[in-house]
Amino acid sequence: MSTNKTIVITGTNKGIGFDLVKLLCSQGMHVIATCRDENKCDALKTSVPDARVYLLDLGDEQSISSFAAQITANYNHIDILINNAGAMLDGEWVGNTVSHIAPGVLKQTFQSNFFGTVYLTQLLLPLIQKSDAGRIVNVSSIMGSLGMHSIPGNELWEVKPFAYNASKAALNHFTVHLAQLFYNSAHSAVSMHPGWVKTDLGGEMAPLVAADAAKELAAVALCADTRHNGKFIFNENTLPW
Ligand SMILES: NC(=O)c1ccc[n+]([C@@H]2O[C@H](COP(=O)([O-])OP(=O)(O)OC[C@H]3O[C@@H](n4cnc5c(N)ncnc54)[C@H](OP(=O)(O)O)[C@@H]3O)[C@@H](O)[C@H]2O)c1
Repeated sequence: MSTNKTIVITGTNKGIGFDLVKLLCSQGMHVIATCRDENKCDALKTSVPDARVYLLDLGDEQSISSFAAQITANYNHIDILINNAGAMLDGEWVGNTVSHIAPGVLKQTFQSNFFGTVYLTQLLLPLIQKSDAGRIVNVSSIMGSLGMHSIPGNELWEVKPFAYNASKAALNHFTVHLAQLFYNSAHSAVSMHPGWVKTDLGGEMAPLVAADAAKELAAVALCADTRHNGKFIFNENTLPW
């Protein structure tokens, strides 16, 4: 495995992103880690001094373009972009929010999980395409699977936070479009479900810890070939879109 990859990871001040930065830096990778709040970066900077930490708020186009401009000025390529940052703003996981989700919550969720992520990726695409084997890993969720949500009685049948689920379904479509762009090239794009993970987003009941998810995500991010292009992956298995 090559250890000199340049990797951008969003949403790294806590949770899965934090552990991803720790893991990939420990493997000798050059990690560009983003946090949206300057006051929340200290733990990351202290725990992983090798990470290059930048500010990035996916809810703010100015912040996205300023981050992309800094990266473009400082780096001649990016090998891997891990779009990890994400927000779940519906409130409760169980139940269906489709009848009453506030427009503002829907917009704010899509801004972080989809619009901001798409815009950031577009701005970094020229650098990713300068890599010998550029890769985009969209950290999605099984909750974005239309195939699973639409089957009565399925494990996701009663778990319908509309804003979060729809934003991850949209993110999955982004992966499919990127994969078509990359088809038959050395580059690739993949959606990944990290598992149900004990974080602020995943909650206390989750069976996995952030380090487990980081290991899975890193393995796919660093895979030597393009076999995952256009796939939706969990634990090396393909999930239904
Ligand atoms: N945990 C699970 O069970 C689970 C399952 C499936 C998928 N996922 C996905 O895994 C990813 C990581 O989640 P996590 O569990 O580690 O959650 P987390 O602990 O809540 O961390 C989320 C990260 O995303 C950042 N973020 C949110 N909105 C942002 C924005 N507008 N701009 C920049 N950064 C933003 C957060 O920053 P702040 O601290 O500033 O808010 C934080 O760093 C997410 O995409 C999530 O949807 C998680």
